[in-house]
Amino acid sequence: MHAPLSPRPLSIAAAGPLKGEVTVPGDKSISHRSLMFAGLAIGTSRIRGLLEGEDVLATAAAMRAMGATIERREDGEWRVAGVGVGGLLQPNTALDMGNSGTSTRLLMGLVASHPITATFTGDASLSKRPMARVIEPLSRMGADFTASPGDRLPLTMRGLCPAVPIEYELPVASAQVKSAVLLAGLNTPGITRVIERVPTRDHSERMLRGFGADLNVEGEVVSIRGEAELRAQDIDVPGDPSSAGFWMVAASIVPGSDVTIRNVLMNPTRTGLIAALRLMGASIEALGTRDVGGEAVADLRVRHAPLSAIEVPPDLAPSMIDEYPVLFVAAAFAKGHTVARGAHELRVKESDRIAAMAAALGLAGVRVEEHEDGLSIEGRDGEPLVGTGGARVASLLDHRIAMAMAVAGMHAARPVAIDDAAPIATSYPGFIATAQALGAQPTWLDA
Ligand code: S3P
Repeated sequence: MHAPLSPRPLSIAAAGPLKGEVTVPGDKSISHRSLMFAGLAIGTSRIRGLLEGEDVLATAAAMRAMGATIERREDGEWRVAGVGVGGLLQPNTALDMGNSGTSTRLLMGLVASHPITATFTGDASLSKRPMARVIEPLSRMGADFTASPGDRLPLTMRGLCPAVPIEYELPVASAQVKSAVLLAGLNTPGITRVIERVPTRDHSERMLRGFGADLNVEGEVVSIRGEAELRAQDIDVPGDPSSAGFWMVAASIVPGSDVTIRNVLMNPTRTGLIAALRLMGASIEALGTRDVGGEAVADLRVRHAPLSAIEVPPDLAPSMIDEYPVLFVAAAFAKGHTVARGAHELRVKESDRIAAMAAALGLAGVRVEEHEDGLSIEGRDGEPLVGTGGARVASLLDHRIAMAMAVAGMHAARPVAIDDAAPIATSYPGFIATAQALGAQPTWLDA
């Protein structure tokens, strides 16, 4: 089992307007995929702007353990020499996935069509998350699994080579499941097809094509012809819109704020939070929209604006699935009653994010009603939060709960305390330093 880091309690107090420019770290989804695809390609890939968070480092370690050569140069560029499709090696030890569901599920896809056996372990949060969603299609392709009760980690799998191509309709809207099947298909003879009725993030499709895979998207069907070589690429990873989301909400709720977030990925499968905040009346201007390596990127200028409650359109869910915790924070400051339903998947993220945010906002003085598939939130019409008094919000090993509640503390009458902010390092190691640079007041507390 993964050794937990020691908890790092944090308090955030209001400190007036947030002002300045920020650069968010590289997109997490693209960073994981860059290392995996480069690790399978022929030749040496160069990756700039890689997110150096714990989740992505877990992917790097696993790809190294299976034969890829991965190095970070002093100037921050990463160099990856791949093993070639089909060339992954048997890892000598268990692959420690830490907190990272994306590493786990995508790497399970890769292992499924290689003749190797791998054991996946993770921290207490990851060990509670469902793996049946990938075990099921990968078993159909021929992989064999021995999982912990409830189809959870730790689990050991044996891949099959050659694996069997399948046609698979996704039962849940999940880019991780879609990607796991496509990655298994990469080393499988014939054509593997995934049908997705609800579009989810399409980074695997775009990037695999860029690496030279024989992949087609026709309507709801993604097909990949296996056993084609991937060729090394140069990649510039754009800024993570999920990380940018914290500053979008912070600048929107703290009176007088004016923040520009540089170099944010604007892929339409990822911009749901911007759409929802705009419906609420947020002032978000996209400046200098440009193309970087086939992805739209922009700078976002966000100024404080009074927010109004909305019924969050459920069809935005896949394009803002990781942003609900911080959207709930925005709703807590809006005028009126916000209802967000149709987001059942939030129950199986790094924590149960519906229950976690209901408890966290409740502790900070917000009236919240919990539904099976979302929350209703009584907004405070711009009034600061009460704060958490002597209590501490439980972050439950979930980086996004910790960061969302840190944002809530930026407009609160008394500080918001969080029992453990260490998980922030999984996706956004510089978050606290950036909060400080913008004028917020974070303080580390005694454990
Ligand atoms: C991700 C897909 C999403 C998202 C996760 C990253 C990816 O998960 O929540 O943070 O990179 O493919 P699901 O596929 O489980 O919705």
